[in-house]
Amino acid sequence: MSQHPLIQAFAEAGQSQVFAFFDRLNAEQQKQLLADAAEIDLAEIARLNATLVAKSGAAGVDLSDLSPAPYESLPKNGGDADQWAAAKVAGENALRAGRVAAFTVAGGQGTRLGYDGPKGTYPVTPLKKKTLFHVFAEKLLAAGRRYGRPLHWFIMTSHINHAATEAHFEENNYFGLDRAKVHFFRQGRMPAVDPQGKILLENTHTIAMSPDGHGGSLRALHRAGALDLMQREGIDVLSYFQVDNPLVRFIDPAFVGWHVIRGSEMSSKMVPKAYAEEKVGHFCMQRGNLVVVEYSDLPMDMQKETDADGRLRYVAGSIAIHLLDREFIRRMATGDTALPFHRADKKIPTVDADGNPVKPEKANGIKFELFVFDALPFAKNPVVIETDRADDFSPVKNATGLDSPQTCADDQCRQFARWLNAHGAAVPVDETGRPAFDIEVSPTFGYDEDSFAESWAALAPKPAVSAGLYLA
Ligand code: UTP
Repeated sequence: MSQHPLIQAFAEAGQSQVFAFFDRLNAEQQKQLLADAAEIDLAEIARLNATLVAKSGAAGVDLSDLSPAPYESLPKNGGDADQWAAAKVAGENALRAGRVAAFTVAGGQGTRLGYDGPKGTYPVTPLKKKTLFHVFAEKLLAAGRRYGRPLHWFIMTSHINHAATEAHFEENNYFGLDRAKVHFFRQGRMPAVDPQGKILLENTHTIAMSPDGHGGSLRALHRAGALDLMQREGIDVLSYFQVDNPLVRFIDPAFVGWHVIRGSEMSSKMVPKAYAEEKVGHFCMQRGNLVVVEYSDLPMDMQKETDADGRLRYVAGSIAIHLLDREFIRRMATGDTALPFHRADKKIPTVDADGNPVKPEKANGIKFELFVFDALPFAKNPVVIETDRADDFSPVKNATGLDSPQTCADDQCRQFARWLNAHGAAVPVDETGRPAFDIEVSPTFGYDEDSFAESWAALAPKPAVSAGLYLA
């Protein structure tokens, strides 16, 4: 049995502990363990052991030569209104030409929310309790109608949530979308290692593997054939967004227009940080390249630096909304430049020398993750544009408190009230803009203010604005 080439390869790589219990496993379990092992690139693990693991995370992030990144301000904040208008026209043309597809990264484990199921199946809207996937699907449906080009939608899942994600779409008849245009694929996995670089077992017949981070999406898109499909369909712009943010305007003509006009390979939206300690990544320049520096890596005195007007210097916060050029993704997935892995020290359930389960109380292992924003320094002509937080960003991360289902439902109600009040309705709101009662606008009625305004103008008679108002 130990003659199996994989077992030999692991032994030669100093990883024979992975097969320590192999001879006592039944045939099914042996198959499982070999299948897990076959996913692992031993040379990659050796490289990571020599760098990230050996240096015990002390290597740190290179903060030399950092300065704040420039961005395109919104017209109301001093941006050039003509350029924004031209961008919107260019973006609408690209959408009408079918050049844009949507891409949701939904492979995360959502541990902070503590919800038992794929995060995209979490009910999130204030009244109808539509799931995150339902909201995105209706936005896509409405945008497809608006531009006369139904859009393709790529959804990256993980091994853990793939089947449940597909089942959610099946059960809901793909929310009215053309199922031939919805494409699911799994992201890659990486094994966890102990502090000596030894690959950890989860139990005697499986390896401790976890998703390889949202940056794994670039190689997963290539592996899944998504880039070839895009090429066949004439799609060259991929709109990347996270599964946890129902406010996201992922079909945003002005954003697409800036990206296209500038010949950008990767573009991003920023919001001005609400306060110095806000936990978002920072868009910075470093030796001519655009980079994102995480809040945990940027020293607090830099986060608090202000300019002559008292504004934060490192003000541009990343909200994980990007546009990616198809051939740029291909280059990142197949070329010589690979995204760097990041190290995360975690508690990893494993087994002891006798194969008994061990539930660690403190971090006992290291996970490796890729981050998508690490692609930015490799992109030609990257553009960062400002967006209104209230119209693009309210993620569901935690079960309670900040960025929770409650704050997200509140933000959705605020947005609907803002749209209604901007177009002649009278929704009573408090000083934060929160209506006194829950209301909801279906994305098929309005998925952004423009589409809402059109539907609202055409609506006769107008409904009374009261508790439970649902516009669909
Ligand atoms: P988060 O960083 O919020 O992580 O992911 P998470 O796994 O969803 O949640 P926690 O930290 O365990 O609570 C941001 C986005 O990136 C996706 C997530 O699904 C989410 O849309 N993601 C994250 C992946 O697709 N794959 C990964 O390996 C990690």
